[in-house]
Order: sequence, then structure tokens, then C-alpha cells
Amino acid sequence: MDTINFTEKFYEKYGNRSEKPVLFFSPGRVNLIGEHTDYNGGFVFPCALIYGTYLLIRKIKSNTLKFSTINFNEDYQTELKELFLNTGKKWINYPLGVINEFIKKGFKLSGLEFLYFGDVPNEAGLSSSASIEMVTAVALNEFLSASLDMLEMVKMSQKAENEFVGMNCGIMDQFAVAFGKKDHAIFLNCDSLLYENVPFILTDCSLIITNTNKRRGLTDSIYNERRSECDKAVELLQAYKPIRNLSELNTEDINILEKYIKDPIIRKRAKHVISENGRVIEAVGVLKNDNIIRFGQLMNQSHDSLKDDYEVTGTELDTLVYEGRKLPGVLGTRMTGFGFGGCTISIVRKADSAKFMTSLSAIYQKKTGLVPDFYQPEIGDGARRII
Ligand code: GLA
Repeated sequence: MDTINFTEKFYEKYGNRSEKPVLFFSPGRVNLIGEHTDYNGGFVFPCALIYGTYLLIRKIKSNTLKFSTINFNEDYQTELKELFLNTGKKWINYPLGVINEFIKKGFKLSGLEFLYFGDVPNEAGLSSSASIEMVTAVALNEFLSASLDMLEMVKMSQKAENEFVGMNCGIMDQFAVAFGKKDHAIFLNCDSLLYENVPFILTDCSLIITNTNKRRGLTDSIYNERRSECDKAVELLQAYKPIRNLSELNTEDINILEKYIKDPIIRKRAKHVISENGRVIEAVGVLKNDNIIRFGQLMNQSHDSLKDDYEVTGTELDTLVYEGRKLPGVLGTRMTGFGFGGCTISIVRKADSAKFMTSLSAIYQKKTGLVPDFYQPEIGDGARRII
């Protein structure tokens, strides 16, 4: 969508062509490696995409907030309130949850018109929701002259998602879409929140995202179940070491798990988190040495661990990954994000990329009856004002 067209749609919706709205953008993200580690105080390695959510916003005199989106036919309007309540309309809850966080900090709202447009697929594990939250946060920060720093807005957006939307996510998504940098991935320690931008430029290979087009459905309860399984593991491991989270252990500790955790399910969950942290650290190291082959192997191991130990994959993701690995030029492939549906991410030699997509598409359709989508994303910058 070009800017002129988007602005035209804004005027068609809200009228008054004499006052221009302001344009903000926040990307979606893809996680290269480090899955289900963020809420365990571990390491992640995501990057921001050039796809994301655009927001045109304008102040109005009345005490009304008006929300609309180009993506589907679902408008919402409300008078200003002391605090807003969950509307039951999913996409509206993201901005409203963020607005509540600003109100809780004492900022005074005025009437506003919002028009959103997203070009990152919804519910595909590419953080379309964090993208809506962060674009709203950076816009309000400017419109309410709040002068909050980016990290504060990341925490507010995560809180909106946890408390208002009701999804108990970690901090990775909001952090990645806020702090993304063109051609870089973010090596983030989710405990200290210290991070490093690591160049991620593939010369002979392509980064390919494959969308299973399988909606993950009502799986938030499984996410919470995994979180409590990890808490349980921490509790049991207190007999070994006084740890606050699983990420305080390292790969050498994996062989003590059997002694302290008798339940094989809880043990597998802990093993995934600890081994995945080890893989992220190694992956960042090998990337810095241009060893993309090893990087790919670590991606493969990450998926195997998410399938066998953390059990968050499913037929569609596994079909893409294990069939994909058989194809020529594939260095590594794994699920990315939450799991159960959504997308995989693969590193494929450029010369084999086109064939990879056509062959995998045919195999996947035959095996699952679903048609996959492929994206060859560029890595872009984080949330910001555009004009
Ligand atoms: C979802 C959550 C993130 C993270 C991933 C799994 O995307 O929002 O916080 O836990 O799942 O790595």
C-alpha cells in the first residue's frame, strides 16, 4: 500500500482533508533461533521484517477514539474513559490494551482517529500482534508528548498483551519489533534485557519463510501449560542449585536433570530450554565466523528439540521441516514463533531456492491438503514514525 493511497483511505473514512494524519510503522518479526526461551530468562535471536503494521493517526476535538483497519471490516468507536475494558474484538484489544498502559502512567488522552494497515499475515507466528501494539505505543508516545523510551514501551506492550489481551507471552516479540535493525538480528538476553545487533547478511543463501496456513487455534492454554511445566522444573531443581529460572543452567547441567526431575515430561521441557539456550549462543558465534552450515545444523536441532522435548510442533510444521530437509541446498529449517501452526524458517542456497519452494509446495499440499505461502523477507528497522 503506498502512502498516498493509504492517506486517501483515511480521508474517505474520517473526512476533513485539511488536517493531515501522521504515519507510523512497526515491523513483524521472525525468530532465527531460541524458541520458548524468552519467558525462561533465556536467549533469543530474532530479526525485524520489512513487513508489519502501518498506522495513520490524527487528533480530533471530540472525546472519542475511533479505530478502523484496511484489513477487514471491523470498526470500533468509544468515548474516552478512565480505563478501557476488553472489547471481545481481538484486534481492537491490542491498541486498547496499550492505551490503558499510557492512562495508568497518568497520561491524558484526547480524541484520536486511528487507521491501521498490516501486510504481515495474522496468526502466522510473525508477531502481527506485537506489531500493532508497538506501532500504537510509538504513535501515542508522540501524540501524548510522553517521552517514554523504547524499552519502557516494549514492557507496556508486553503488559497489554499479558493483562488486557490475556496472552501470557514473553518479551521477545515486542522487543524485536521495537529494536529491529536493517540487516541485523538481535541477540537478546531476556533476563537482563541486554542485547547486541549482529549482522545477518546471507550472500549465497536465502532466508525463506514458509507459512503452513494452519491456524494454531486455541493453543494459549498450552503455552501457559508449558510455562508452568518450566516453573515446576525450576522448583524441583532448587535441590540442585538455587536458580531463579532454567536459563541459569547450562548444557553441562543436562545430565543432572534425571536425578532431580523424575517426571519425564517436566524433564524434557527443562532439557529443551537449556539445550536451546546453548544453541543460540553457539549460533551467534558461528554466524560471526560466517559458518552458515553450522548455523543451519543448529536450526535443525532446534526444531527437533521443539518437536520431541517441548512438543509444540504438529503435522503441518513437521511436514514442512522434514520434507524440506530432504531437498537440495537446504542448510537448515525449523519452526519459528509459538508453534502448532504458523511458519517455518529455512536457509536455502540461492541456486536451489526456486526449486525448494515449488517442490515443497507440491509435497506439502499432497500430504496435508493445505497450500503453503512463501516469503523471502528482507530484514528491516524497528518501530518508528515515517512521515
Ligand atoms: C510466542 C510468544 C513469545 C515466545 C514465542 C516462543 O511468539 O509471544 O514471547 O515465547 O512464542 O519462542
